[in-house]
Amino acid sequence: MSDILKVEHLKKYFTKKGMFGLKSTTVRATDDVSFSLKKGEVLVLAGESGSGKSTIAKLILKSIQPDSGKIVFEDQEIDNEKKNLEKIRMNCQMIHQDPYDSINPRMKIGDIVSEPLEIHKIGNKQDRSKRVIEVLREVKLEPAEEIVKRYPHMLSGGQRQRVVLARALALKPKVILADEPVSMLDVSIRAEMLELMQELQKKYNISFIYITHDLATARYFGQRIGILYMGKIVEIGAINQVLTNPKHPYTQALIDAISEPDPNNLHKERRIRINDPTDIDVYQGCRFRARCPYVIDKCRKEPNLEMINEEHYFACHVKLD
Ligand SMILES: Nc1ncnc2c1ncn2[C@@H]1O[C@H](COP(=O)(O)OP(=O)(O)O)[C@@H](O)[C@H]1O
Ligand SMILES: [Mg+2]
Repeated sequence: MSDILKVEHLKKYFTKKGMFGLKSTTVRATDDVSFSLKKGEVLVLAGESGSGKSTIAKLILKSIQPDSGKIVFEDQEIDNEKKNLEKIRMNCQMIHQDPYDSINPRMKIGDIVSEPLEIHKIGNKQDRSKRVIEVLREVKLEPAEEIVKRYPHMLSGGQRQRVVLARALALKPKVILADEPVSMLDVSIRAEMLELMQELQKKYNISFIYITHDLATARYFGQRIGILYMGKIVEIGAINQVLTNPKHPYTQALIDAISEPDPNNLHKERRIRINDPTDIDVYQGCRFRARCPYVIDKCRKEPNLEMINEEHYFACHVKLD
């Protein structure tokens, strides 16, 4: 399978101005992140809140500019030239966590789904209406002819998220960036939405970047996974390898947090230490060292991603089994 999208050494720092005499601080939201996405593949980006997942999605769509690094789509570097921006925005669509981030509550569903077609001047009014009905049926919002006339508040949360999916599909994108698309939905309807995304992903061979902090849905939907910690990929690889044989202490801690406590495993205490990392400059050396139960002297130096096999890489000086 060939790569459809690559990010290379992507970097984005944010400086928060200090108020009330406090020093300003710099957050390294994305710090030298590289990965590729194959055609038709679902790559998961996982990590706790603030690890930089959404920043990566925004950088890919060029809604924010990187400090350095590049985005390559279908072997073409996406710089800020108009035709390149158009290319990435036509072919890559985003699904946000909160439907109201991408739908205007004062617009009818038909207009919401049609809007990307209008922006990119696809077809005439009749073609667009036809496509809107078609795509609402794809996401199983029926009767589509009735749904188009409704306003977002007349739908349930699950239906609104389907509208967002329909809007993302309208342009027949090659890549969908789904940023925690089910985390705001009721647990009871999450599975339905995931099944629907998976069905459409397979049917149209769409490449997905699925952003989540939830490893259970990651395993269900993804083929590969990148684990992010404070703007860095600490482990990346085939999902069955990373989740069954995690090599980075942070990945292990994330997995332990979702598994049932096993009394036979109590001696293998792997929980993340909750010490206060403020006495350590987190950007010196391994970023996880302030919280890592296995920290050694060497961790003052930043670890690089190392290969275990072609489908599994991790960045840690301590070699755990
Ligand atoms: N526009 C911004 N200005 C300042 N800091 C930001 C901005 N966007 C994100 N950040 C910071 O960058 C870090 C990563 O944020 P984000 O990418 O939203 O993480 P995630 O999606 O994994 O929760 C956080 O510390 C966040 O506070
Ligand atoms: Mg986010």
